[in-house]
Amino acid sequence: MSERGQWGSRMGFILAAIGSAIGLGNIWRFPYVAASNGGGAFLIPYLFALLTAGIPILILEFSLGHKTKTSAPGVFGKINRKFETLGWFQTIISFAIMVYYVAIIAWAFNYFVFALQGGAWGTDTKAFFFGEFLNVTEGAFQLGGFNSAVLIPLVLVWLINYVILMAGVKGGIEKANKIFMPLLIICLLVIVIRGITLPGASAGLDYFFTPDFSALADPEVWINAYGQIFYSLSICFGVMMAYSSYLPKKTDIVNNAFITGFGNCSFSLLAGIAVFSVLGFMATSQGVGVEEVATGGIGLAFIVFPMAINALPGFNAAFGAIFFLCLIFAGVSSSMSIMETFVAGTADKFNASRKKVLTIATLVGFSISLLFVTGAGIFILDIVDHFINTYCIAIAGLLEIIFIAWFFNLEGIRKYANGLSDFTVARWWNFTLKFLTPVLLGTMFIYKTFIDLTVPYEGYGVSELMVFGVGTIIVTAIAAFIFKSIKGSQTYEANISKGVEM
Ligand code: ALA
Repeated sequence: MSERGQWGSRMGFILAAIGSAIGLGNIWRFPYVAASNGGGAFLIPYLFALLTAGIPILILEFSLGHKTKTSAPGVFGKINRKFETLGWFQTIISFAIMVYYVAIIAWAFNYFVFALQGGAWGTDTKAFFFGEFLNVTEGAFQLGGFNSAVLIPLVLVWLINYVILMAGVKGGIEKANKIFMPLLIICLLVIVIRGITLPGASAGLDYFFTPDFSALADPEVWINAYGQIFYSLSICFGVMMAYSSYLPKKTDIVNNAFITGFGNCSFSLLAGIAVFSVLGFMATSQGVGVEEVATGGIGLAFIVFPMAINALPGFNAAFGAIFFLCLIFAGVSSSMSIMETFVAGTADKFNASRKKVLTIATLVGFSISLLFVTGAGIFILDIVDHFINTYCIAIAGLLEIIFIAWFFNLEGIRKYANGLSDFTVARWWNFTLKFLTPVLLGTMFIYKTFIDLTVPYEGYGVSELMVFGVGTIIVTAIAAFIFKSIKGSQTYEANISKGVEM
């Protein structure tokens, strides 16, 4: 019989939820997505997405996790047995994210050391990253050899996660977040202060904040805002349900959701200020426009930022090390939550010891993540990440919302959340979940599918996209059916009534 953990304090839960939300996505993805989608104007759809989808779904997931005291498979299974599969689909998405997420944190460890060595990446940071560091091959099918330099930090990241999760919810996750989150904020503030005091910083901030209101007429800008909110808030892939299932009976739902949502977005803004002031400095010192140096994703953290670190007038090693520490803290606090989602789901259903589940899941996860330390790792990672974000999370989110909002008692959940909370949500909450979010998510899904069918993602070969992209969706779905079909010690009965009991 597994003993379910519980958060030690409200602060502990909030820090863990914010720790899960703030991740790699906030530091490298948000600044670029914002800048290339209308700059300052992007904040309008972004805030709109936060208020109409992000926070409402957080309230929904916090309520369901708290009420059922179980993770996603149990939540959906208790509502309707057939829907346990959806819970598993979300849980397996988490596991799939975990296996490549750890690889990026491992790179951050490598770069932390390179920074301390005084910029071991040299002057051609792009050639270094793809060549000397990753030894990339010609394509996703040519694995090449294992990269031993990345293997060591990869083992370390899995080990850190293992040790923290092994210590349980209160003694492990809560404690770790109480250490990581303040450190992360301090590190980011150091980068912000250094960044905005650099010559040319204002050019970067102008680029980041100057609003291009015409972008608001572009549907893709709105889709990108919603996409960013889902991934960044760790919603619709089981994480927030698992975390809220550890809440004590007496707790708060609505206020906690607002704090988590706004905390995450404030951090993103701060990260944008840090990144763009440094990019502004670099562009000014090279005499080029900020748009020429601004890049998104992996390129920003591991190619452009090292170049900017090279150009700093002083304290280069310290500045570089602190930046990569930010990535490590943000990454580890998110990876813990992603892994916990799988551990909680499995331990709940099979009534198994979480330690045993954690050990097996870590070994399996580690073995799969070895794929990402091969010469083809970055290509596979890029494809898997794209398909998970664009399709898996969108499908999981859409099904969750349609199922709960249309076929379950949404009003009952609102009353349940309000009954526990410092302040209450009005009926606008029902409207956003019933109409607005499904329409936007559905549009997003169709639009992105159309784009992907017209132009192959990032110019990859169709067979590469089929195997690693579509393959990820299929394997995730099959795994979900298998986990649902295995008979567990717990049979999830549809025991949440549709009535006022909720
Ligand atoms: N929410 C996590 C991130 O933004 C997954 O990286």
